[in-house]
Amino acid sequence: MDFSIKALDAKSTIASIKSGCIAVAVFENKNLSSAAQALNLKGDISAALKSGDITGKAGSTLLLRGVNGVAAERVLLVGLGKEDAVSEKDFSSAAQAVARTFSSLGASDAIVALPIDAVAGRDPAWAIRCTILNVRDAAYRFDSLKSKKEPAPVGVKKIAFAVASTSANLAKEAITQAVAVANGIDLTKDLGNLPANVCTPTYLANTAKSMGKEFKLQVEVLDRKQLQALKMGSFLSVTNGSVEPPKFIVIKHLGGKAKDAPTVLVGKGITFDSGGISLKPGAAMDEMKYDMGGAASVLGTMRAIAELKLKLNVIVVVPTCENMPSGSATKPGDIVTSMSGQTIEVLNTDAEGRLVLCDALTYVERFKPAAVVDVATLTGACITALGHHNSGLFTRSDDAHDALANELLAAGKAAGDTAWRMPIEDSYQEQLKSNFADMANIGGPAGGAVTAACFLERYTKKYTWAHLDIAGTAWKSGAAKGSTGRPVPLLTSFLIQRAQAAN
Ligand code: BES
Ligand code: MN
Ligand code: ZN
Repeated sequence: MDFSIKALDAKSTIASIKSGCIAVAVFENKNLSSAAQALNLKGDISAALKSGDITGKAGSTLLLRGVNGVAAERVLLVGLGKEDAVSEKDFSSAAQAVARTFSSLGASDAIVALPIDAVAGRDPAWAIRCTILNVRDAAYRFDSLKSKKEPAPVGVKKIAFAVASTSANLAKEAITQAVAVANGIDLTKDLGNLPANVCTPTYLANTAKSMGKEFKLQVEVLDRKQLQALKMGSFLSVTNGSVEPPKFIVIKHLGGKAKDAPTVLVGKGITFDSGGISLKPGAAMDEMKYDMGGAASVLGTMRAIAELKLKLNVIVVVPTCENMPSGSATKPGDIVTSMSGQTIEVLNTDAEGRLVLCDALTYVERFKPAAVVDVATLTGACITALGHHNSGLFTRSDDAHDALANELLAAGKAAGDTAWRMPIEDSYQEQLKSNFADMANIGGPAGGAVTAACFLERYTKKYTWAHLDIAGTAWKSGAAKGSTGRPVPLLTSFLIQRAQAAN
């Protein structure tokens, strides 16, 4: 898929552009956007609207061929809803409709001439990103493991955004950014969709290494021996039942000033979560191959910012292993000592995410981070609380943490990849009390997403930290089963914002 800019001026008008298709907007009140008006030379567009074949509701479409006076072979009318109040959702629906139509069109190139300044409070760059991410989402395929590939997809391969020549440079930058994010999302989706017998901890480590080569990043992979030397007793306890060797991946993108403290992303990388001795029920257990969604999303985010050569110091850390039952697996009641020295009574081996993350959160202290964000498919309870719409965002609630939380919430909103803030409070911490160790690894059935976050909080006292529980947002179940690529859009927006603030 190739994206570019078509700058419009007096000589190159929209009606004179030769192309397979031009997408223009119409509104519910039957008014035409300015680009649609410019194609309405002989009244064909207004006639089509009059016919009632398109309502103008956001996301409605009508494909016209041979429009009089228009050089393009086709005109795609796209509904954008209420003319005086185009919402983000309306524009996204229109972008989705364009993406869907383009993906099965008999043309290979097309022009998008939607009004990219129509959404109040969002700039044209937002609209361009929104369109590109929808097009790339519609084009995504995962068939590398099917012996008979589906036939090569038809549809539009080259898309140009028609923009006034004065805003061509801004638009170009928006394209570069959106394509990098889409590439990051695709990597995240691929890693998530790969089964656990392919996407092992070693596979994730190799992915990191090849990304390091491609983008000149520093990559370090620690093995079991090195983790033992670091005294990561909590992380290692999760690996006891598995024959797959654990890996601890560290990737550095040092695009900022040498003296600037890095922003650190930590991703949960359980490549398969059977529950361990506290075995999960069989139904939908295959979906626990997605339990490395946090790892996949921080790797995808790293890919995006590396491609953009973002002027920011960013370090990605991925503790990765399998959680399996066996004769050597950790047993309920076992007590382990974390790298921080705090001891943990493992009351449920299925609460393994926090056990791998806590040691990673202690490890990253050495980077003296500006902020640490961990990303994890951590609790089913988060799905109960927030469904599949928002990721759960947890931080302490002092000024520094409120500021970090607000940065992440705003980044999620801007990227259409939202999070919702949840509490961390002492009253929940009490649920983690153990009779035999410093803490238990579960806090009982009530408030499970919060007590999981409270557990992590105990390992993050030395820096500003946020936790994203993506159990409900990282993948879809049912007929549309597959990785969503979330929260790569949120995380890249967050880092791009930080880079802008620092430069
Ligand atoms: N990976 C799961 C969380 C999960 C469950 C994500 C379902 C997506 C869908 C995590 O390791 C887990 O098993 N958590 C337990 C914690 C419990 C034992 C306290 C859970 O949520 O049931
Ligand atoms: Mn589990
Ligand atoms: Zn898990």
